[in-house]
Amino acid sequence: MKKKIIFSGIQPTGLLTIGNYIGALSQWEKLQKKYFCIYCIADLHALTIYQKKNILNNNILDVLSICLASGIDPKKSIIFIQSHVSQHTQLNWILNCFANFGVIKRMTQFKEKIYLNQNINVGLFSYPILMAADILLYQTYKVPVGKDQVQHIELVKDIARRFNNIYKKKIFTIPKKKLHENYGSCIMSLLSPFKKMSKSDNNKNNIITLFDNDFTIRKKIKHAITDSDNPPNIKFDLKNKPGISNLLIILSNITQISIKELEYNFQNKNYYDLKEFVINNLCLFLNKLRKKFFFYRKNEILLRKIMLNGAQKAEKYAKITLKKVYNIIGLNM
Ligand code: TRP
Repeated sequence: MKKKIIFSGIQPTGLLTIGNYIGALSQWEKLQKKYFCIYCIADLHALTIYQKKNILNNNILDVLSICLASGIDPKKSIIFIQSHVSQHTQLNWILNCFANFGVIKRMTQFKEKIYLNQNINVGLFSYPILMAADILLYQTYKVPVGKDQVQHIELVKDIARRFNNIYKKKIFTIPKKKLHENYGSCIMSLLSPFKKMSKSDNNKNNIITLFDNDFTIRKKIKHAITDSDNPPNIKFDLKNKPGISNLLIILSNITQISIKELEYNFQNKNYYDLKEFVINNLCLFLNKLRKKFFFYRKNEILLRKIMLNGAQKAEKYAKITLKKVYNIIGLNM
């Protein structure tokens, strides 16, 4: 049987955190077993914020290397750079004309961004329509995303349905969202565990980046907020024990030991023991990941080959959908 299609994207902006790894990359890696996966480095989306040329250039290669280091296999899956497949921007324009202004204006992420941003450009507004083009070009069955992207996926479904209805033909597959497993989208800030861990956080003690060294990891985890339960109680409880739960989620995702089993192992232990275990495992894990990262990152010739090959494979699929769209609209392609 033909495998169903998974599509997802990641923006090449800044230092990735352990949250990005657990929330996206580790999940992407696992999905390769069951699905045909298409992963895109969304460099065009990154342009909604002003980017310096060299930094953007490096970030794209960094993120590609991290994807490969995380086990995304270009032989099994397609990994490519969004701007290298021109069908994305072509379909984007067409979908602009099928997306409702009022609906897009109400996207919560857009409202947050215009509130925070000085550079309020139209790209920021039409961002989810480019996402729609990304997803719909590949007749995607499921899109793995974090909670923050759920509203965008609902919009993509709306656009696809509207298009299919107008032309009375199933041109686009209606995609489904796939939320991350094992609390993957719930990696919280270390010092304020009710707030999501975010690579743009000004206080770097809130985040563990994939490039923090052993010393920094130790310092940050030592400072991470727990609670003052007496006696100490290592239990998973997102509402009442967010700090401890956050450490358990991180630990479970990097060791593949279930949260239940971790709770069992840490019965009658104290927070010092838990933190030491987190520190040791994080250091081990990140050192391994970084080794693989540098293997790819130092080999730009290999990276360029992988990018070119990925774009060529993606284009083959993207062309088929775009042709159908052009034809049914009457663009005579
Ligand atoms: N907007 C997504 C993010 O910031 C990245 C992205 C771009 C994406 N295109 C996509 C995610 C298509 C899923 C599907 O996280």
